[in-house]
Amino acid sequence: MRKILAIETSCDETACAIVNEKLEIETSVVTSQIDVHARFGGVIPEVASRMHVEQISTIINEALKGHDMSEISAVAYTVGPGLIGSLHVGAAAAKTLAFFYDKPLIGVHHLKGHIFVNELIEPLEYPLLALVVSGGHTELVYLKDDTHFEILGTTHDDAIGEAYDKVARIIGLAYPGGPKIDKLSKEGKPVYKLPIPKVDGYNFSFSGLKNACLQLADRIKRNGEELNEADLACSFQEVALHHLLDKTMKVLEDYDVRHVLIAGGVAANSRLRELMSEHITKCKLTLPPLKYCTDNAVMIAVAAFKELDQNHFVGYDEASKPSMAIDK
Ligand code: KG4
Ligand code: ZN
Repeated sequence: MRKILAIETSCDETACAIVNEKLEIETSVVTSQIDVHARFGGVIPEVASRMHVEQISTIINEALKGHDMSEISAVAYTVGPGLIGSLHVGAAAAKTLAFFYDKPLIGVHHLKGHIFVNELIEPLEYPLLALVVSGGHTELVYLKDDTHFEILGTTHDDAIGEAYDKVARIIGLAYPGGPKIDKLSKEGKPVYKLPIPKVDGYNFSFSGLKNACLQLADRIKRNGEELNEADLACSFQEVALHHLLDKTMKVLEDYDVRHVLIAGGVAANSRLRELMSEHITKCKLTLPPLKYCTDNAVMIAVAAFKELDQNHFVGYDEASKPSMAIDK
């Protein structure tokens, strides 16, 4: 049976997994650097790559416990997009393993990982619409089948997760702020008036909304009034998530779609999951379990099987790509 060993180091998680061709997870190891970055209020790229260097050998050895490289058919890694220094560490490790053990090497697009990991939950049906929402991405990706990707919409400025993290900082919540805003919102009401982003087509914008939160908080403090943090969290979240929902529904009106899925760190958001379940009733909807929303190497292995089936391999000279379109 074919097995892929995959490595993910695109941001602040160091991960390694072995997945077989039946899409059974034989092993999956993830370490997060969140505690360290939390001290700085966000991911510091230089710190992230140094921590990957410190962790990578341990993580690979742990993933290989009870396994042998002779079982492995190919080595896969995240080739992009992501932080360049972080990507380099995973690439160097994967290339070394592939070279030493004479295995084919597969470079995986990070967002394809976020999308295809959903095959572990249920079969994907096409045409499929993926709403990819994370700290670095806000994209509506249309898949005619599992090899054709079209980006229908993307953000003009901040990614949704970035906006969550920045608004959390305004409220005084530590990084990563997304899960904390999610929780705090449940105690609040959407009473603060915030601007609804107006953007062309299926695109998004979050910086105006984020700035409006900052100005509102400043004004309240200047006037000596008390900011209701739960209400601000809830007001921000309602506008931000309805913006995601509106654009998703607009695509569903205009395109033939049989299956919708959400992917990426923000897909863990409980209110987003609720809104999607309420509104997307005419086609299949997949909401991945939380462990597959945030970065992991299982998703890279699952996406790598698609590349393996198409004989898409890379050479040792393949450059890591900090920005990399999914539809090229
Ligand atoms: O996909 P991910 O783990 O890393 C990137 O590739 O960016 O996503 C991390 C982002 C962070 O901005 C974090 O605040 C956000 O996902 N996030 C959430 C929630 N859980 C994580 N945002 C809103 N609600 C959540 N429950
Ligand atoms: Zn990610």
